Amino acid sequence: MPSQTGSLTLLFSLLASSTCLLHVQRNEIRTFDSLDGLWTFVKEPYNGGDIGIDNQWNTKDLDTFKNATVMPVPCAYNDIGASSELRDHIGWVWYEKKEMVPLRDRNMRHVLRFGSVNYFAVVFVNSEKVTSHIGGHLPFEVDISSKVKFGAENKITVAVNNTLSWSTIPQGDFNYQKLNPRNISGRILSRLPDGAVKNVGNFDFFNYAGILRSVQLVKIPSVHIQNINIVADHTGSFLFETAASSLDGIQVEVNMFDEDDNVVSFFKIFPV
Ligand SMILES: *[C@@H]1O[C@H](CO)[C@@H](O)[C@H](O)[C@H]1NC(C)=O
Ligand SMILES: *[C@@H]1O[C@H](CO)[C@@H](O)[C@H](O)[C@H]1NC(C)=O
Ligand SMILES: *[C@@H]1O[C@H](CO)[C@@H](O)[C@H](O)[C@H]1NC(C)=O
Repeated sequence: MPSQTGSLTLLFSLLASSTCLLHVQRNEIRTFDSLDGLWTFVKEPYNGGDIGIDNQWNTKDLDTFKNATVMPVPCAYNDIGASSELRDHIGWVWYEKKEMVPLRDRNMRHVLRFGSVNYFAVVFVNSEKVTSHIGGHLPFEVDISSKVKFGAENKITVAVNNTLSWSTIPQGDFNYQKLNPRNISGRILSRLPDGAVKNVGNFDFFNYAGILRSVQLVKIPSVHIQNINIVADHTGSFLFETAASSLDGIQVEVNMFDEDDNVVSFFKIFPV
C-alpha cells in the first residue's frame, strides 16, 4: 500500500501528441450518431481494374447509378444474398451514405469511426479523400471536422477492395480463369467469363469482405483528454501521463482514490 509506506512517488507529465482509439460511448461529454443501416452499394464489374477510382466515383452520387442497390452495414457483402457473382467478387465495391449533421453540433469535433472494413478501404467525405486503411482486423477513425458541412447533408463514400496478395493478412493469391466450358448433354456451361479472377486463399475460412462492423460519427468537444497512461510498480512509485488535444488555457485535474473511495492525492496541472 503506497499510503502506508509513505514512499509514494508521483510523477506526471502532460503530452500533447499521442492518441489512442477509444471505443465509442455516450456520456455527459461525448456522443455519437450511428451510421449503421442501409447504404447505397455499387459493385465494379469483374476485372473492373480501378474503374471507380479512375472515373472518380467519389465525386458522383452513387444513388444515381442505374445498377446501384442497397447493402446493410455492418455485414459481409459477399456473404449475403443469392448472387454468386457478388459472392465471388474480387476487387472494388463502393458504399455511400448521406448524413445530416445539425448546425447545433458545429462546435463539436466530428470523427468518423469504422469498427472494421475488410480489406483495403478508401474513405471520402463530400467527395474528398479523408483516409485509407489496410486490413479488417482493427478499427480506424479520422477527424473530418474540417470537411463536414453543418446544417446540411454530407456524403460519405467508402471504396472497399478485397483483393488478397502475398502481403496481406491472411495471404491470398488470385488466378486468372481461362474460359473452360463444359459440355453437359449439349448445353455449353461456363461458371466464369474468360479472364475473370478467382481468389485462392491460403487459409481455411471465407474471405468476408465489406464494412464488417459498425460505423459511427463521433461528436466530442474540441478540447479533450486523448489518452491516460498509468504505470504503478512494486516500489510504490506511480507514474501517470495524460495527453490532451490542446494545451491552450486548459487545466487537468487528477484525483487518486484508495479502496474506500477516499481521495489520497489530488493534482491540478497547468501546462506551461
Ligand atoms: C455499374 O454502373 C457503373 C456506372 O454506369 C459502371 O461503370 C459499372 O461497370 C457498373 N457495374 C457493373 C457490375 O456492371
Ligand atoms: C484493388 O483491386 C484490383 C482488382 O480489381 C487490384 O488490381 C488492385 O491491386 C487492388 N488495389 C489495392 C490497393 O488493393
Ligand atoms: C456437346 O455434346 C453433344 C453430345 O452430348 C454433342 O452432340 C455436341 O457436338 C457437343 N458440342 C460441342 C461444342 O462440343
